[in-house]
Amino acid sequence: MKEYAKLIIGGKELKLPVITGTEGEKGIDIRSLRQETGYITYDPGFGNTGSCKSKITFMDGEKGILRHRGIPIEQLAEKSSFVETSFLLMNGHLPTQKELTRTSIMLNDQSMVHEDMQFFFQNFPRLSHPMGILSAMVNALRSFYPELIETERDFEKVFIRLLSKIRTMAAMSYKISKGHKVIYPRTDYTYCANFLNMMFDSPVNPYQLDRDIVKALNTFWILHADHEQNCSTSAVKTVGSSRANVYASISAGIAALWGPLHGGANQAVIEMLTAIHKKGGSIEDVVEKAKNRRSSFRLMGFGHRVYKTYDPRAKIMKKVCDKILPKLKIDDPLLDIAKQLEEVALSDQFFINKNLYPNVDFYSGILLRAMGIPTKMFPVMFAIGRLPGWLAQWKENMDDRAQKITRPRQIYMGENETTYIPIAKRESDSADESDY
Ligand code: ACO
Repeated sequence: MKEYAKLIIGGKELKLPVITGTEGEKGIDIRSLRQETGYITYDPGFGNTGSCKSKITFMDGEKGILRHRGIPIEQLAEKSSFVETSFLLMNGHLPTQKELTRTSIMLNDQSMVHEDMQFFFQNFPRLSHPMGILSAMVNALRSFYPELIETERDFEKVFIRLLSKIRTMAAMSYKISKGHKVIYPRTDYTYCANFLNMMFDSPVNPYQLDRDIVKALNTFWILHADHEQNCSTSAVKTVGSSRANVYASISAGIAALWGPLHGGANQAVIEMLTAIHKKGGSIEDVVEKAKNRRSSFRLMGFGHRVYKTYDPRAKIMKKVCDKILPKLKIDDPLLDIAKQLEEVALSDQFFINKNLYPNVDFYSGILLRAMGIPTKMFPVMFAIGRLPGWLAQWKENMDDRAQKITRPRQIYMGENETTYIPIAKRESDSADESDY
């Protein structure tokens, strides 16, 4: 039987249909609200607003559950590869061996970046943040590949192209920022091995691939692969909703991810831990500062819009750190500081009351550092990981006939109608005009 919510407003009763998701989540379909009553909803940050129906990712923030296409993140992190998980997100099912081999061949075919693009890279100032460079370069891909997406095949091509080239472009931007020779992709390497080799191989010091690091990178990227309607995914979909091309949409996602409250948090966590390490002092003082509402300081890598318990990805990331650092014989003081910080915060009433737990970014920077990835590249690593999610969500949005151009409304709180005053009649202030 169909369920309805009743709304009595302005002397009118409105019956609003209730939508129930496959995991029992409930939403009220308010599409007729404004037309029927003249009212709109007010929900800054859209914390209570469902923007779509989706079949890609399920999250339960209270229970700490994350599943892609129904498969728990713990199983994917342990058993899958990043390429396989990307295929899963995109196509809705795990690939057969034949499909996986075909995907790998296509990724290899697309791994080179147009030689002319190197000139763009070379001309960014050396201190440019790699996220800015990546966002600009992904947008520029449209000029190199202007064909339209008209069929499923066309989209598959774009998906593979972006997934393959983003890792080449990321490694290229790093090499160029160091003034080093760009290392080309190799068709005999897997996706993650290829990236590590492009980052760290050099003509004078060949890079030795380490199986455990390759596995850790696969896990890192799987853990970032999708997270339903987060800020950057919503940015990708918002830009896509105007029918802007897919490269422009992904470029917007990269820009949104850059912020320290989102994907930039992994960089911010390491900067925070490094500052604590350098300054010394007590962990309790840091936690006190984060609680002080007069200070803008927040405990980076803590808290999440959806998770009100431990982020399941953070649990896995912590385990990977505990495994990989001793294996690499790395004794990182930042890992100890992070663990102490976690312990103090999780037993503090402020963090308990507000349900603030470590999120994926809390331990991810420590893992990236152990792999030799420079701090500035951390958000780029997140962006590569999130790409399959962005693309799957972009495509789902395009195929959803209920979707329209994104255009929220507002409640205007400004001046009522007022008359234009010619400049000569405006009240002058005391500033001497010669100042200008
Ligand atoms: N440290 C201290 N206090 C915090 C923290 C934190 N990390 N996070 C939230 N709070 C407090 C806020 O001050 C606020 O307090 P108030 O109710 O007294 O005003 C309350 O908890 C709720 O915080 P909001 O910002 O309203 O929660 P929201 O859901 O909008 O934000 C966010 C979530 C942005 C992740 C927030 O927790 C935060 O800023 N965390 C630090 C940055 C971070 O780690 N970002 C990565 C997120 S995961 C990702 O994007 C992959």
